[in-house]
Amino acid sequence: MIAPPLPFTFSPHLPPQVSRSRATECIGTLLGSGARMEVYPLVDEQMVIRVPRRTEQQLIDEHGSSGRKVMAAGHEVSSVTDKELHDLEAIESFIGAFVPDTTPLADLDLEGNFRYYSLQRRVRVTLDLRSNTERLEARHSRHSLERFIRDIRDMHKALGLLPDLAGKGNLVLDRYGLVKLVDINNFRRLTTNDELAACLPADLDDYVLGFRDIRRLLPRDFVDDLGLPIGDLTLARLQQLEIRALGRDPATVEQDPMYEPLYDQRRHVVLAMLRGDMA
Ligand SMILES: Nc1ncnc2c1ncn2[C@@H]1O[C@H](COP(=O)(O)OP(=O)(O)O)[C@@H](O)[C@H]1O
Ligand SMILES: [Mg+2]
Repeated sequence: MIAPPLPFTFSPHLPPQVSRSRATECIGTLLGSGARMEVYPLVDEQMVIRVPRRTEQQLIDEHGSSGRKVMAAGHEVSSVTDKELHDLEAIESFIGAFVPDTTPLADLDLEGNFRYYSLQRRVRVTLDLRSNTERLEARHSRHSLERFIRDIRDMHKALGLLPDLAGKGNLVLDRYGLVKLVDINNFRRLTTNDELAACLPADLDDYVLGFRDIRRLLPRDFVDDLGLPIGDLTLARLQQLEIRALGRDPATVEQDPMYEPLYDQRRHVVLAMLRGDMA
């Protein structure tokens, strides 16, 4: 008797969280990963697929639904993803030149779970700006970083948003020595000193001593979904880039009003408590 044909399956090397519609083009070897994303190259060598670690259902369970449905079977989009899609559009006119072209893609994975992927132009990374402590050698790289910081400043003024520059590999130089922001899933509003002060009681002793949890008081976006004070970490990173990678005078950079939140005493106390938490 002839055995019935096996159902068609994709390469066993493919991770099951890969998109169905892109599975035949996807190479199952991780190109990079972070806390939120796994990134796989496509066979064309020009593009990558960004695969969120969490399905939309997991994100909805943690953070709620946006109430929006997509695809024929009416799969729901999480509020997290909706915010990411919205931010991606909003930042485009400010820092679009530094973000690899990105196309969001709603699809089921190979196990039938709904995820919100994106296709992104592949970046050939030559330097992770997070681990760089030297002044950038090439003039065109310094120019690129100067423009990036200038545009981030404008975006921060207009939208209040900052990218996540804290993570490894988030801000890099590509093979042309130009700045690219590859991590595009974690833009946050920076809390002002006044907003933070308005959330804190006069006496922080109970919080410092650990009897009460400071996180309950913090304004939205002060920490991200992983509990990291991402706005503050990014601001410190930007200042470091200006001083170290661009070789600007520290005294002048420290006078810059954008960095004012970094010198607030109560903010320091809060950040120290969060660091204690994270340790
Ligand atoms: N377009 C890309 N081209 C090349 N590598 C990429 C690209 N996007 C992401 N990566 C790699 O994957 C890693 C994880 O992506 P990232 O967007 O930072 O995810 P997460 O939000 O989880 O930190 C990056 O640090 C980088 O090494
Ligand atoms: Mg990252």
